[in-house]
Amino acid sequence: MPGFLTREVQEGLVDSIREVVKAAPLYTPAMPRTGKEMSVRMTNCGWLGWVTDKERGYRYQPEHPVTGEAWPPIPEALLALWREVSGYPHPPEACLVNFYTDAAKMGLHQDRDEREFEAPVVSVSLGDACLFRVGGVRRDDRTVSFRLESGDVVVLGGEGRLAFHGVDRIYPMTSALLKQGGRINLTLRRVTKPAAA
Ligand code: SIN
Ligand code: MN
Repeated sequence: MPGFLTREVQEGLVDSIREVVKAAPLYTPAMPRTGKEMSVRMTNCGWLGWVTDKERGYRYQPEHPVTGEAWPPIPEALLALWREVSGYPHPPEACLVNFYTDAAKMGLHQDRDEREFEAPVVSVSLGDACLFRVGGVRRDDRTVSFRLESGDVVVLGGEGRLAFHGVDRIYPMTSALLKQGGRINLTLRRVTKPAAA
């Protein structure tokens, strides 16, 4: 959804993410087994956070892997966005915060560490634009690429919930939202299946 968030809402989100990062500092995640460091720095908010390291691989956990502290709560504006666009009746449990500097990128992958695939993944782009790539549910399916700009929202839901996606490059200096440049991506996820009513 191009241009979904007004400049004012984007500024509010940046302020709340600064608070999140104060409580839960960005850390450098590493790939399972190889321990190769990712170029993106990460943190989370929500009662669960997505983390990865050499020894234990991809997972959700309630505490920051470096500080051992609980993640800060998901800012209200993001909970409101989820209610508006997710079409899912329960709140998100995790919000992964990805910070991209000029040379950072993210390889093609699926979001599949959640137990609940009925809920979409809702993604918010802030700051510099990127070249986003999305394909099908098989790694070798054809992909399409397009720019994501600050304020764009992507919903990976329904048939697209398990679509492969990644970030091929950042376009430096394309937004004035972040004073120091770079790109922030926020992804809201429901991790667990809600208890039966
Ligand atoms: C992700 O897949 O976690 C991030 C996608 C993005 O940065 O747009
Ligand atoms: Mn992803």
